[in-house]
Amino acid sequence: MSIRSKGRIISLAWPDRTEPRAKAFPIVKRLTEDRRGVLFVGDNLTVLDHLIAEKQTGASLIYLDPPFFTQRAHETMPRKGAASEVAFSDQWESLAHYLEAIAARLSRLRELLLPHGSLVLHVDTKTSHYVKVLADGIFGFDAFASEIVWRYRRWPSKTENFQRVHDVLLRYRKDPSIAPRWNQGYEALAASTLKTWGTRKQRAVVEEGHRKRSSSTEEESKGVPLGDVWDIGILAPVSKERTGYPSQKPEALLERLVNVLTDPDDLVLDPYAGSGTTLAVAHRLGRQFVGIDESAVAIATIEKRLAEKGVLLTQVPAGR
Ligand SMILES: C[S@@+](CC[C@H](N)C(=O)[O-])C[C@H]1O[C@@H](n2cnc3c(N)ncnc32)[C@H](O)[C@@H]1O
Repeated sequence: MSIRSKGRIISLAWPDRTEPRAKAFPIVKRLTEDRRGVLFVGDNLTVLDHLIAEKQTGASLIYLDPPFFTQRAHETMPRKGAASEVAFSDQWESLAHYLEAIAARLSRLRELLLPHGSLVLHVDTKTSHYVKVLADGIFGFDAFASEIVWRYRRWPSKTENFQRVHDVLLRYRKDPSIAPRWNQGYEALAASTLKTWGTRKQRAVVEEGHRKRSSSTEEESKGVPLGDVWDIGILAPVSKERTGYPSQKPEALLERLVNVLTDPDDLVLDPYAGSGTTLAVAHRLGRQFVGIDESAVAIATIEKRLAEKGVLLTQVPAGR
């Protein structure tokens, strides 16, 4: 887990760095009726080792949204005054333990990625710089593709710091020498562009090797090719999408990733499934999915969320 740079080695190291071992738990699996979706219940390290041992088909997209090292337990936010309960714990002995846990999962996830595939790791600014160096060591410096800044608006609050209004999504490719799965995405044209140019596609007029001006074509513009700063609202407390599960991400965020980085029928894997946002989006967009979560509250939330969309999960007898 190190990067070679002209014969010198760069790595993120700390004293007594250890490799966590997967626990020997039975594999508990739920399957959708059409067999295009699988949900595993349990520690993802155990499940990932199982998937590697079983030589399961690889994924085109792996999205992981692990706990953010908040050092607290996260509770559900039920509607209409019902009691909340702990959904998952994000309490760690130290940052070193947290990073060891992430590194162990990343190296296994890399094995489960297809050569054209992408892994997108969702973190926040507390850990993103450590995790970037860790992931560079596992995937290779050249496999790093982008840092997506997810910018959201939240209730404004004055503190003696700039309010944090973004998360970080680090994208890695399995094999940077192979063309990635890529369906170009677009954002709406800016109001100023629309005012000046309307919705027609612009063409650069180049004279003597220099761009002199733009001219309008007859073709309708598809918009601006997606950049790496995404303005997507967080889920409002009254949003229909809300399940009450803590740290639920908006479907719009996952929709972008799934649409750009996968084709229909591709497999999407989420080892920290939570409320099942990735699974619900993958299913809606005609992709196959594998989800993993160790929290009973998460599993119940996912089952309910998918059932509301007519997707029923049934338990697979042990050993199958
Ligand atoms: C931040 S939440 C994911 C939220 C999700 N993206 C969503 O939109 O609902 C992290 C999830 O990871 C799960 N988790 C944490 N450690 C895990 C582990 N070792 N194995 C499986 N699941 C784990 C927690 O139970 C929690 O549901």
